[in-house]
Amino acid sequence: MNDNNINTLLNNYCNRREFVKDTLTGIGTVAFGSFMLVNQSGCSEGSPTAPTDSNGETSITVDLSFPENSALATVGGTLALTANELDGSGILLYRKSDTSVLAFSRICTHNGCTIGSFQNGTSACPCHGSQFNTSGSVVNGPAVNALKQYSATIVGDIVTISP
Ligand code: FES
Repeated sequence: MNDNNINTLLNNYCNRREFVKDTLTGIGTVAFGSFMLVNQSGCSEGSPTAPTDSNGETSITVDLSFPENSALATVGGTLALTANELDGSGILLYRKSDTSVLAFSRICTHNGCTIGSFQNGTSACPCHGSQFNTSGSVVNGPAVNALKQYSATIVGDIVTISP
């Protein structure tokens, strides 16, 4: 095999690699786009955005003027956020009053499963049945510790959640 044949083989190999790489990148982009589309249209759970503040801390915001977040616009309302920049298991929100929102990690303090949305004032863990109330406290074991709480503020229609 001469040098020209070797170079031809190498070029074809690289072209195939580039093709496969480009194809996978394209599929990944389409898949990611689909996720975003599903996430945006899946209105039963809220959709946050994730800016980083001037201190370099990640915070997320939830715009209550968006239809998918409207459950939190009234006192007593709840919202379940899916995985986001702040919490890989998502965040439960509870509108405590006109001026306050409580935010809790969805990580069960028993063994780390992701707890469900608030239903009639409690969130249940699918793994071993622990239940947590809208204050984040345990109302049913085996978990013994309260949910991790995030800082949450509300200004107008914007809820900002930070570590
Ligand atoms: S991990 Fe939630 S009850 Fe066990």
